[in-house]
Amino acid sequence: MLICPKCGGSLAREGKSFLCPQKHCFDIAKSGYVNLLQSNKMNSALPGDNKLMVQSRKKFLDKGYYVILAEALCRTVSAHVCEECRILDAGCGEGYYTEKITETVKDMNAEIIGIDISKTAADYAARRTKSALFVAASVFNMPVKSESCNIVTSLFAPYCGEEFLRVLKRGGIFIMVIPAERHLWQLKCSVYDEPYPNAVKDYRLDGFEFLGAEKVSGEIFLPSGEDIAALFSMTPYFYKTGAEGHERLERLESLATEIGFEILTYKKA
Ligand SMILES: C[S@@+](CC[C@H](N)C(=O)[O-])C[C@H]1O[C@@H](n2cnc3c(N)ncnc32)[C@H](O)[C@@H]1O
Ligand SMILES: [Zn+2]
Repeated sequence: MLICPKCGGSLAREGKSFLCPQKHCFDIAKSGYVNLLQSNKMNSALPGDNKLMVQSRKKFLDKGYYVILAEALCRTVSAHVCEECRILDAGCGEGYYTEKITETVKDMNAEIIGIDISKTAADYAARRTKSALFVAASVFNMPVKSESCNIVTSLFAPYCGEEFLRVLKRGGIFIMVIPAERHLWQLKCSVYDEPYPNAVKDYRLDGFEFLGAEKVSGEIFLPSGEDIAALFSMTPYFYKTGAEGHERLERLESLATEIGFEILTYKKA
């Protein structure tokens, strides 16, 4: 499924590297991920989520707080999986959901790739599971063969319709997860004087046929400041909130909050 980011030729694994026919060589890191980011095309030396965000997300997700989403996502993937399915998790983060998908399709002879622009995220994901290949690359310029994927997933990650359509086979499935209106509502109420619900999005996406939306919601109870801090630092609010908001949050000893997600499913037209 992978192509060389320099010349577009097929990449094949040879020992501890990936090589293209023109001998462009990309070493596989100790953890198992491969860096296909092109330094001359990057706006920042360390793009994507930083180490604190990646570690916080791992700590929080590993405690199972979003397990209802993981289970619903896996049911959706199961409904569309085929033999020798090629699945791409675009913006996979530290691989929590990618790993759940690998477990769901383990008897299907599937090939699974997770892409994230953050090298730290790709590194953590590769340590999490060896059943998928993790690549540091941007979803806006994916080193992935055209029309090679049966399923593309995107959870809370940047959307690039053109690239997702390019890599999907005809009739391929795109599964996108977005936060619902009242996701983390009580967390926001604890931090902001006037919290806003998340914007409701138009489900239509150019080039895709919309197959359906599933709403997944529940309530979680965080019994410690440590878990609240882990949740907060994995959200974009962490960097958007002023000192007062941070202080309010630090004073909390526990938190019960609504969580809500929408799983949107599309087919490449
Ligand atoms: C909110 S996190 C979600 C991670 C994962 N999907 C999950 O739900 O746990 C968004 C991820 O998108 C990654 N990201 C941001 N910009 C990206 C880009 N242009 N290409 C690929 N990944 C990107 C970040 O590094 C981060 O890991
Ligand atoms: Zn090449």
